[in-house]
Parts: sequence; C-alpha cells; structure tokens
Amino acid sequence: MTGLVTCRNSRSRLLFVTSNMNKVLEAKSILGKFGIVFKHLNLKYPEIQAESLRVIASESARYLYERLSNPLFIEDSGLFIDALGGFPGPYSSYTYKTIGNNGILKLMEGTSRRSARFESVVVYIDSPKSIHIFTGVVKGTISSTIRGQKWGFDPIFIPEGKSQTYAEMGFDEKQMVSHRRIALEKFAFWMVKKL
Ligand code: IMP
Repeated sequence: MTGLVTCRNSRSRLLFVTSNMNKVLEAKSILGKFGIVFKHLNLKYPEIQAESLRVIASESARYLYERLSNPLFIEDSGLFIDALGGFPGPYSSYTYKTIGNNGILKLMEGTSRRSARFESVVVYIDSPKSIHIFTGVVKGTISSTIRGQKWGFDPIFIPEGKSQTYAEMGFDEKQMVSHRRIALEKFAFWMVKKL
C-alpha cells in the first residue's frame, strides 16, 4: 500500500488530534489492524456549540486543518439519554466535567426508562474541500449505580445485549462493541480503499 498508511511512526503524515489518551489507545488498536499508522497530536481545540456532533466535529476539523495544513482526523462522542430528551448529547463533555456520572444518575433517580445511546463521529480532512465523516452508534442502557472504574461514562453505560458496563469490560471486550470502534472501522475501510 502507498501513501498515508505505509508511513510509519515519525514519518506518518496522518495526525489524530486529541487530548484524550484513552481515545488514542483505542484508535491505535483498531486502525493498527488495518495497517494505518497515525501520529498523535496532543492538543485541545475549540468546539462550537451546536446540536449535531457531525457539525461540531466538522467545524473543529476545519479549524485544525486551517492551522496545521496536514491530513488529520478527530473523534467526537456523545451520550444521548432518552429519558432526559437526549441530554447530555453534544454537551457530554461539559456535563461530565460538571455533574459527572453521579449527577446523571441523580437526574435519573426513580426513572425506569434507562435507554440511551453512545454516538461517535470521526472526521477526516485532507484539504479544505475534502472532509469525510464516519459515525458509530451503540444502543444501551444507563446503570442505576456506578459500576467499574474506567474513564468518562464507561461506569454507567451498558451496551445492548451485555450485562456489564463498558467499565466492567476488559479493553478488548469494550473494543468489540464500542461506538468508537464502529466509526473508526468505517474510516479504516474507506482509507484502505482510497489508497
Ligand atoms: P468528547 O468526544 O471527548 O467530546 O467526549 C464527550 C464526553 O463523553 C467526555 O466527557 C468523554 O469522557 C465521554 N466519552 C466519550 N467517549 C467515551 C467512551 O468511550 N467511554 C466513556 N466516556 C466517553
């Protein structure tokens, strides 16, 4: 294969811009299976306020491309809880930082409707006019207590068909079912075909 995927380590031109190491580890494991190597750029970037993850992530990708002039991808996720009208959705990061998992469980106290979904949007950009979006959705439920000790909403999200929260699963097991895996795999299939 030629182009981006053959570039190894320091010579890799493809950047994954994120300040979240958990995402880097997940992306390395998934994209690595396709022979896609990227360089991690540890950077926080602005996110506009909008209702759609696709719009938010696309704007961030454009913002980064304008400054870095380098092929790159970013990933944005959100937890959408049906009983809360889809909240926190695009406000997931802020909600996690402010009320956290305990706050979400409190908002849902006494609610038997526990259905939710995790969405992931991967945006790849390699020119101002060439932007590609890949999405992954996993349906599930919100647990009634904190279960497990991993990052973000992992301790309260139980994917459909499973009895454990993401946090109670091992790394590989979460990878098998995760919303991010679905989006990253779509990206990887597209990338490999393109080259
Ligand atoms: P963002 O994509 O970094 O903006 O994520 C929004 C919020 O969702 C952050 O608080 C993350 O910690 C959380 N989040 C995103 N993906 C996951 C995941 O796979 N597990 C747990 N929390 C996640």
